Amino acid sequence: MPDQLQQSVDFKPAEEILQSFGNLNHDKLIPLLQKIQEVYGYLPVPVLSWMSKKTGIPESRMHGVITFYSQFYTEPHGRHTIRCCEGTACHVKGSPRIADRIIEELNVKPGETTKDMRFTFETVACLGTCFLAPVMMVNNDYYGQLTADKVAPILKNYT
Ligand code: FES
Repeated sequence: MPDQLQQSVDFKPAEEILQSFGNLNHDKLIPLLQKIQEVYGYLPVPVLSWMSKKTGIPESRMHGVITFYSQFYTEPHGRHTIRCCEGTACHVKGSPRIADRIIEELNVKPGETTKDMRFTFETVACLGTCFLAPVMMVNNDYYGQLTADKVAPILKNYT
C-alpha cells in the first residue's frame, strides 16, 4: 500500500484499475493513464509514483507521455476545457477581447480552473482553423468568427 507521502489520495480506485489491466507492459501505459484520469478526473502525482513502484514503469516515462499528449493533466481539471486561440490570425481579428471576456465571465486566468470545476481555461498558439478567426474551442466544439458578446451564450450550453 502507499507510503505516508501519499496519504491524501485514495488509492483504491487505482488498485482496481491496475488489477483490471492484468499483466501490464509499456504498450498499455496510455490506456492505463486514460483510465486513471477518467476515474480521478486528472492524474494525481502520488498515484503516478505509486503506480511506478507497482508496475516497474519509470515515473520519468509516465511524465514523458503525459507532457507529450495534451489530453493528460496532473492537476484537477474542469469538466469542460475552453481553448482560446492567441495565434496571429486570431489576434488581428480580436482574440484578446475574446480572452478578456472569458476571464471576466469565469473569473479565471489562462491555465486556471473555475472553483466549481466547470471550466478550465487555456490559451493556445493556433487551433488549425485560422480561416474561422477568431476561434475558441470548448471541448471538441469549434466556435469561429467570434465576438466577445457571443462568449457567455456559448458557455451557458456547458453545465
Ligand atoms: S491563429 Fe487562431 S486558429 Fe490559427
